[in-house]
Amino acid sequence: MSSRQNVAPNDLSAFWMPFTSNRQFKKAPRMLVGAKDMHYTTSDGRQVLDGTAGLWCVNAGHCRPRIAQAIGEQAAEMDYAPAFQMGHPKAFELANALVGIAPEGMNHVLYTNSGSESVETALKVALAYHRVKGDGSRFRLIGRERGYHGVNFGGISVGGIVSNRKMFGTLLTGVDHLPHTHTPGKNQYTRGEREEGANLADELERIVTLHDASTIAAVIVEPVAGSTGVLIPPKGYLQKLRDITKKHGILLIFDEVITGFGRLGTPFAADYFGVIPDMIVTAKGLTNGTIPMGAVLVTSEIHDAFMQGPEHMIEFFHGYTYSGNPVASAAGLATLEVYKEEGLLTKGGGEIGKYWEDALHSLKGLPHVIDIRNLGLVGAVELEPIAGQPTKRAFSAFVKAFEAGILIRTTGDIIAMSPPLIVEKSHIDTLIGTLSTILKGLE
Ligand SMILES: Cc1ncc(COP(=O)(O)O)c(C=O)c1O
Repeated sequence: MSSRQNVAPNDLSAFWMPFTSNRQFKKAPRMLVGAKDMHYTTSDGRQVLDGTAGLWCVNAGHCRPRIAQAIGEQAAEMDYAPAFQMGHPKAFELANALVGIAPEGMNHVLYTNSGSESVETALKVALAYHRVKGDGSRFRLIGRERGYHGVNFGGISVGGIVSNRKMFGTLLTGVDHLPHTHTPGKNQYTRGEREEGANLADELERIVTLHDASTIAAVIVEPVAGSTGVLIPPKGYLQKLRDITKKHGILLIFDEVITGFGRLGTPFAADYFGVIPDMIVTAKGLTNGTIPMGAVLVTSEIHDAFMQGPEHMIEFFHGYTYSGNPVASAAGLATLEVYKEEGLLTKGGGEIGKYWEDALHSLKGLPHVIDIRNLGLVGAVELEPIAGQPTKRAFSAFVKAFEAGILIRTTGDIIAMSPPLIVEKSHIDTLIGTLSTILKGLE
């Protein structure tokens, strides 16, 4: 008898869900069964307005026919091609298209299957780059407190969210952290970039003095820290990081898994802040959330440093079975076409971004709200935690919001929102109006 016969079709116990309170969920499941443009359909037939672009990834809205068609056609024409020592045209086309929208100088692409893998790839490129240049003593990696760089060992080592780190032993060695840029009591309710705090980047000089520049390979930061609760950098902060890293020959990596592909109203956050790193880590919006895929963009200087030695030799011993997978590449190409045709990579910098900002900040003064932050089409509302029960208040807002027909995301006691970039004013009115009602009724 097959073990499948023992499983009832609606038994929820087998799937150990990721980043989920499994017991709570399985008692009162929130099931999504369909999606179109700005809305999900739930298993009980309700429409839920997507205030989070899925998980910050469905930038062009759900179930876009062009992307679905490209995926279907590619799956029927050639489902898979070996990724090592073989190629197929769409992976190259997509790399060219990515370079075409990337900041000046980002001329080469390594493919992955997720943001976490993009982070690992970038960290490995950084270490190997110094080594191929004959500078192999640069082995240290510098991250930032409260940073989120996925869940693999490199990412949690340079990341700075304690719950994601504390269970997993010693992590990578040789890692240090910059302080985070959250400054409670200062900068509250700032619209856009924060005024105070650029000096926090000077901490990098202290870290360099402690370890010596000759031991440091790279600094990795999210330009806007997303998963920790939307921390907008202070004015001038990222430029300072760029200046200090350049001065000391340290690579700067921007983790743009969230900020890439139009989230801030520019193709990448590097464009928004006018600060060009040495590598950009992407995933999520690359395929509009349809097929798992990530990409790391690197400069010619980094790429070219590896292109030496006998030509029949592999230059970089790294890659995944699914690097540049044909179906994912087709999804990526169709996604970039949709972004381009609809102007989505810059839309958030226009009128809709301003409308979003005004709507968000209209929540100021509601019960328990202690800060509101925004940039482009990202926003966060920070709540005062219930004494002795951190996260409970925001989680209760999340559950009530879902019941009331809007999808928001919470991290700690912070509500984070990032609607698909096709969002219209009427959607913002519904999202913020419903959230306002919920906040007024929260314990
Ligand atoms: C900045 C950042 N880096 C990395 C990741 C990890 O991406 P994934 O969940 O696709 O592995 C995320 C996911 O939210 C992210 O926000």
